[in-house]
Amino acid sequence: MELAHRTVLVVGGTSGIGRELARRFAAAGSTVAVAGRNADALAELAAEGFSTFEADVTDDASVTAVRDAVLALHPDLDTVITMSGVMLLEDLRDPAHFEAARTTVDTNLLGTIRVVDAFTPHLVGRGAGTFITVTSGIAFLPFPPMPTYAASKAAVHAYSEALRVQLAGTGVGVVELVPPAVATAGQEQVNPHALPLDGFATEVMGLLAQEPTPDEILVEKVLMHRWAEREGTYDGLVAQRAQALSMLPGRQGAGQ
Ligand SMILES: NC(=O)c1ccc[n+]([C@@H]2O[C@H](COP(=O)([O-])OP(=O)(O)OC[C@H]3O[C@@H](n4cnc5c(N)ncnc54)[C@H](OP(=O)(O)O)[C@@H]3O)[C@@H](O)[C@H]2O)c1
Repeated sequence: MELAHRTVLVVGGTSGIGRELARRFAAAGSTVAVAGRNADALAELAAEGFSTFEADVTDDASVTAVRDAVLALHPDLDTVITMSGVMLLEDLRDPAHFEAARTTVDTNLLGTIRVVDAFTPHLVGRGAGTFITVTSGIAFLPFPPMPTYAASKAAVHAYSEALRVQLAGTGVGVVELVPPAVATAGQEQVNPHALPLDGFATEVMGLLAQEPTPDEILVEKVLMHRWAEREGTYDGLVAQRAQALSMLPGRQGAGQ
């Protein structure tokens, strides 16, 4: 896809990967709007020249209001990135995990669906545009300490596949960004293997720029997750990742 001359909305662009991709699209010559809940982060981005919108993707009315405000300011909007997500640890031996599960599904899965629904009539109406949904390597290779996160991202993957097929012929494409661990949101403290954000974003923009744009944006580091089942490494890698259960409060040792 052409990275310049676009009008892009990043929902969940107030920090981390979303904020970096917002800056990359702007640097490439596109007009970029950012939405999220964090008012201070929105104010900083406004000072950088982005148009900004307060939005909570768990709230139907908030998403509808943002849709109206964004389209009033940017009637040429052609690209919507559904970046909003939470990454929560859950101990499934403690039923108190349910609130984390609820928040995860409401934000990562239903939040994506709300935003896609809000902008589908606009993009289909203009006969051209792109949704960029965001999953994770964990959609394809579970990380046991984050069970509902994995489920939500696997669901967004399946949803993105169906959305692409349902929108075929309308001019609206669906691209799924599948990040591996990236050094954002405190990841750098818990995962020394997390990819530096800068290099990750450069690789992502390079893949997005390909013509035609791939259906899935897979940086080198995520290929082992994406294709583990096909390559016969799945069971071994899940067992290896079970070691990480020791990061749950109350678990004494690996895999317990
Ligand atoms: N970093 C990784 O290792 C990694 C790996 C795979 C996939 N991902 C995915 O990449 C995306 C971005 O993650 P990140 O690492 O950049 O983390 P991050 O810095 O925590 O960014 C998360 C973004 O989601 C927004 N958000 C959360 N809840 C929201 C809500 N209810 N309404 C609106 N926006 C909401 C946050 O904005 P506000 O707080 O302002 O609302 C923030 O902009 C997520 O979908 C994540 O699952 C990340």
